[in-house]
Amino acid sequence: MNVPQAPVFAANWKMYKGPVETRSFLTAFQGSYAPREDATVVFFPPAVSLSAFALEAKGRPDLEFGVQDVHSEVEGAHTGAISASMIPETGAGWGLAGHSERRREFGDDDALVAHKLMRLLAAGLQAVLCVGETLEEREAGQLDAVLSRQISEALHPLSVEQRRSIVYAYEPVWAIGTGRTATPEDAAGAHALVREKVGDALDPVGAEQAIILYGGSVKPGNISDLLGSPGVDGVLVGGASLEVESWAAICNSGR
Ligand code: 13P
Repeated sequence: MNVPQAPVFAANWKMYKGPVETRSFLTAFQGSYAPREDATVVFFPPAVSLSAFALEAKGRPDLEFGVQDVHSEVEGAHTGAISASMIPETGAGWGLAGHSERRREFGDDDALVAHKLMRLLAAGLQAVLCVGETLEEREAGQLDAVLSRQISEALHPLSVEQRRSIVYAYEPVWAIGTGRTATPEDAAGAHALVREKVGDALDPVGAEQAIILYGGSVKPGNISDLLGSPGVDGVLVGGASLEVESWAAICNSGR
């Protein structure tokens, strides 16, 4: 697994776009976004659309893709679930773990997130660990404690080499889908904290080299300010990645 080239532009499509829509989006997107070597573009479509993505992006190996969630077991009687070990067969190379929507809606706690991370890594996927605080936690002054817990517990079972390979996504829950974005200063401050916690679990060099994405109402209008913030190595985008025009504008920024 190669280290991704920052900045990383990551699209989290959540529960949008089946196989047909995935293919038509990609046809149009390939006309609006030419390959660039100074960045990484990665999509997280719904699992049911991974093979359609692979088919449509066959001629564009620069368009990487991954799975939004996997089960914590390798296989078994888990109706409706998907195993990380199945994902490489689709051609996908990435996987998310710990997204706040998984934590909130499906009860993914830190121990489960750690298991899922291990499964992603064992399958040879580039794992992205999502972390971030709720508004209540931020207002209660718990930002530091929340990030510390989410990172240390997720990394705990991993080897040093595995810890070194993780990409992080800092997504303040209060900024997701709300139109409310962290200011570049807020983002820089939180990214510094994430880096500090990664350093605690690894070492200063590993922390320095870690790729940390910002997520939460990223739009074409705020992408340059966010990417200009110290320590912001890319973005994880929901809403604005669903339209070809806005997603291409984001992926073309800074070129
Ligand atoms: P929005 O960009 O829609 O706020 O979503 C962010 C997100 O959750 C990406 O994982």
